[in-house]
Amino acid sequence: MTISAAPPVQLLDSRLEVTGGSRLSGHLRVNGAKNSALVLMAACLLSRDTLRLRNVPPLTDITAMGEILAALGVRVTRHGETIDLDGEHISRAAPPYELVNSLRASFFCIGPLLARMGTAQVPLPGGCQIGSRPVVEHVKGLKALGAQVTIEHGVVTASVQGRNRRLKGGHIHLDCPSVGATETLMMAAALADGETVIDNAALEPEVIDLADLLNAMGAKVRGAGTPSITIVGVDALHEADYAVIPDRIEAGTFLLAAAITRSELSIGPVLPEHLGAVITKLEEAGCRLVADGSNLVISAKAITAVDLRTMPFPGFPTDLQAPFMSLLATAKGTSVVVENIFENRLQHVAELQRMGASIRLQGNTACIEGVARLSGAPVHGTDLRASAAMVLAGLCADGVTTVRGLEFLDRGYANLEDKLNAVGARIRRLSDAA
Ligand code: EPZ
Repeated sequence: MTISAAPPVQLLDSRLEVTGGSRLSGHLRVNGAKNSALVLMAACLLSRDTLRLRNVPPLTDITAMGEILAALGVRVTRHGETIDLDGEHISRAAPPYELVNSLRASFFCIGPLLARMGTAQVPLPGGCQIGSRPVVEHVKGLKALGAQVTIEHGVVTASVQGRNRRLKGGHIHLDCPSVGATETLMMAAALADGETVIDNAALEPEVIDLADLLNAMGAKVRGAGTPSITIVGVDALHEADYAVIPDRIEAGTFLLAAAITRSELSIGPVLPEHLGAVITKLEEAGCRLVADGSNLVISAKAITAVDLRTMPFPGFPTDLQAPFMSLLATAKGTSVVVENIFENRLQHVAELQRMGASIRLQGNTACIEGVARLSGAPVHGTDLRASAAMVLAGLCADGVTTVRGLEFLDRGYANLEDKLNAVGARIRRLSDAA
């Protein structure tokens, strides 16, 4: 009996086909913030009680984080955009390698695991398309709290010696205002013995969201949103029922969809104070934005060139640099964009050039000379925000743009094409055997 070899695994060639030229109108709903929900989920490891998180976005990254927490012993129950995380029985302090590899944000587990168990073993997140993504500040901070930390064979092992294996409060000065390091160290310090001060802390809204959650769980965190955060350790944290803040990056992406198609759209919910730099730049480019309750109404007729430089919050966010560049590709005049946060986050320039954009690249600086119209072409998104940028470019291009790299897109945007089609876009998701 001959056993035929299993057919080669067919990679699905999934892609979005975007037909440009539609005007958009209506309301785009903004989901909960991915970059907050992921770290808030990890915080469940700090308590034996159940943490209920609401307004959690339905994203592949969220599913992956749920699987990692379940592998550690957390009981994860999801009802739509609400997730219950019961951390009573943590069975291990090392998330499985194969799961961690799929999700950089799993590194958020190291702080709470170490605080709760006195030990943690988490694979190095490693680099990605946009940069090397080091965790030097995270490791330095954990050592300052009394942990012994080694990195061998790509795995970070942290442990606390001594009778009760409890971290000790300490003074940490971050070399750079790393979002992930600030969040990791806040969680580790929440159960430490004594007071911790984190100087040069990140100011991002997601850091404040984590502090608000930790305080709702009984922690004592002060100063989140300022460069100096003080955490007085407590013996235990309790249950909480907490709603994630709206996603400022998804909101910014939707504002840009309106601007790029010269449409009027309502976007929300939005916390305007989370988008100050973006709102300022959109107004500078010729957009009109008006607050309407928890929504922002944006209208745009003509777009003029503006200069951008990405900075830590409250500066212009690196996550909206690529989507904004899609707008500048057809703005009137010449724009200069400088990417200061990540060392390799300009790969979308080549894709925009394929669509007829006139861009000159010099190191981390792109000089964009606006053209009258982009032309649809097959393009590829190399990270989740670049993928979104290509969809936006397709909305205003002449003809059809085929966007690949949906494995990135679906990590950061829930049902993007459904949402945009509901306000008048023409996008089809196709996936067939390659
Ligand atoms: C968070 O990444 C976000 N991810 C990123 O969003 C976002 O772009 C970034 O913050 C900056 O705002 C999540 O929150 C899950 P960082 P994170 O540590 O924490 C350097 C998206 O598209 N650095 O603040 O990894 C680092 O190399 C993603 O949603 C060090 O030099 O960002 C980078 O250049 C992409 N040493 C800069 O700081 C360190 O020890 C910002 O990194 C740590 C970081």
